Amino acid sequence: MTEDKHFYEPAKGHGLVHDPFNAIVGPRPIGWIASQAANGALNLAPYSFFNAFNYTPPIVGFASVGRKDSLNNIEQTGEFVWNLATRPLAEAMNLSSAAAPPETDEFGLAGLTPVPGRIVNVPRVAESPVAFECRCSQILQLTSAAGGKIETWLVLGEVVGVHIDQALLKNGSYDTAAAHPILRGGGPADYFEVMAESLFHMRRPMYP
Ligand SMILES: Cc1cc2nc3c(=O)[nH]c(=O)nc-3n(C[C@H](O)[C@H](O)[C@H](O)COP(=O)(O)O)c2cc1C
Repeated sequence: MTEDKHFYEPAKGHGLVHDPFNAIVGPRPIGWIASQAANGALNLAPYSFFNAFNYTPPIVGFASVGRKDSLNNIEQTGEFVWNLATRPLAEAMNLSSAAAPPETDEFGLAGLTPVPGRIVNVPRVAESPVAFECRCSQILQLTSAAGGKIETWLVLGEVVGVHIDQALLKNGSYDTAAAHPILRGGGPADYFEVMAESLFHMRRPMYP
């Protein structure tokens, strides 16, 4: 029996017009990461190799593909702030991804307002309805399966402070869709917006 599947080994090329990897592992939440250099220079950049990895304590992480300002800053200060990227903030989020020199403040570049943190010294994006103040817990340089070092660093941080716009709290519950989060798809430009219509419910099975 032949399988009607496109198969490829990434090390030998995907054989398609566009690499499907990011389109398959998607849409991905965006880590919109604010950080600050030891000299005080502010930085803001989006990372879609981002996710949550633990509940208690809450831990989030993003991957810096190559050595970028956010990674350098977090190594220096041990702190960062995650901001929720929403549909109204999509263009600003995109502007903040510009490959600007370390001294460029992407808050200013993107027309955003920094608000001082309550626990960490890094400011959050005032315009974003949700933010996590984070203390860096680990920075791991990734390796290949063969053990070779890759120029990618996974930056993990414990969430030590959470800011939520009251408008997103409905009867004491956080309303994910009400925030209109945006997620990254594949290709050079694909994004998805979370809509209430996409919601469905399913409980985990109970075994005796
Ligand atoms: C939606 C989006 C997602 C991105 N995801 C990543 C990512 O996961 N890892 C990465 O290294 N760069 C990613 N980038 C590119 C960085 O945002 C870009 O290199 C930025 O200049 C890094 O800023 P920094 O040097 O100030 O940290 C992404 C860009 C966009 C627009």
